[in-house]
Amino acid sequence: MRVLVIGGTGHVGTYMIPRLVHLGHEVIVTSRGQRDPYLPHAAWQQVQRIQIDRAAAEKSGEFGAQMADLQADVVIDMICFTLASAQHIVEALRGKVQHFLHCGTIWAHGPSVEVPTVEEQARHPFGDYGIQKNEIESYLLREARLNGFPATVLMPGHIVGQGWNPLNPAGHFNPAVFETLARGEELALPNLGMETVHHVHADDVAQSFIQAMAHWSGAVGESFHVVSPAAVTLRGYAEAMAAWFGQEPKLTYLPWEEWQTTVTPEEAQATWDHIAHSPNCSIAKGRRVINYQPRYASLQAVQEAVTWLIANGKISV
Ligand SMILES: NC(=O)c1ccc[n+]([C@@H]2O[C@H](COP(=O)([O-])OP(=O)(O)OC[C@H]3O[C@@H](n4cnc5c(N)ncnc54)[C@H](OP(=O)(O)O)[C@@H]3O)[C@@H](O)[C@H]2O)c1
Repeated sequence: MRVLVIGGTGHVGTYMIPRLVHLGHEVIVTSRGQRDPYLPHAAWQQVQRIQIDRAAAEKSGEFGAQMADLQADVVIDMICFTLASAQHIVEALRGKVQHFLHCGTIWAHGPSVEVPTVEEQARHPFGDYGIQKNEIESYLLREARLNGFPATVLMPGHIVGQGWNPLNPAGHFNPAVFETLARGEELALPNLGMETVHHVHADDVAQSFIQAMAHWSGAVGESFHVVSPAAVTLRGYAEAMAAWFGQEPKLTYLPWEEWQTTVTPEEAQATWDHIAHSPNCSIAKGRRVINYQPRYASLQAVQEAVTWLIANGKISV
């Protein structure tokens, strides 16, 4: 099939594009051309890469028609962040694609209530990103169920892989936290360290899109969590990473108000965003309907990413 991936050179595209090529698909990737995939792969030689700035093309009203002109059977939209953007592309592709897969997020849920959270649970998203993604998801599922637009929504957790900083045990992205744990030094965590994070390896996210394509009839009109088999607590995550470095964990705990003054404002904001959600999502539906079978547990995924950081001199341990 002819598969168009909008925004396919990033975290997920790095792993998804070689999988699509390997399966024999004719693959087109659009991006601004500002970056290359995190990992080189021979499969990219068989990919048609097209430079289009989505924001600019949407502003001029041309984006939808440009995507439709590429005449893909399947469109994978990795970079849609507003309802208007989703409506624009759906109107352009209506009746022209066999499958439309949107990359959503578990942030569409808002704070966890009954865990593990299932896709159908009542939504209470907060923050512009989660609210918009939830609106896009509702819109796409409604279009699929009422008007036959063949949409599926995949909802990743915190994506990790080789080439970028994974979400760390303090709930932010400063990789120095891993150095602290590797040296056996003290690490302060907010509250009791019992809030949760839910990672997923980027290759498992790629797998979920491929499996949704392969299970079209079950996938259309549905959304699926794409996370590892189990979330981790910040405390458990920090202890496991310290042990992985061969150290006894030295953890201390501070009330949020105090803890946030020990890090930069950006780090505090990232941690707050993660612990206020404290995601813990079920993948039972994905396993059952599209045979999503993640290869990586959360800690395995993070450890692979940290191994890459060490091997590439990004952190020293
Ligand atoms: N990161 C996470 O932990 C996480 C968690 C849950 C859900 N998600 C979802 O994952 C999706 C992002 O996937 P990703 O992490 O693989 O993406 P990514 O690493 O941010 O890569 C973005 C891709 O889109 C291209 N791009 C960015 N801005 C563009 C523009 N204006 N016009 C055209 N191309 C553009 C980039 O290439 P150029 O820069 O060269 O244009 C790149 O190919 C989003 O929908 C997000 O909501 C992410």
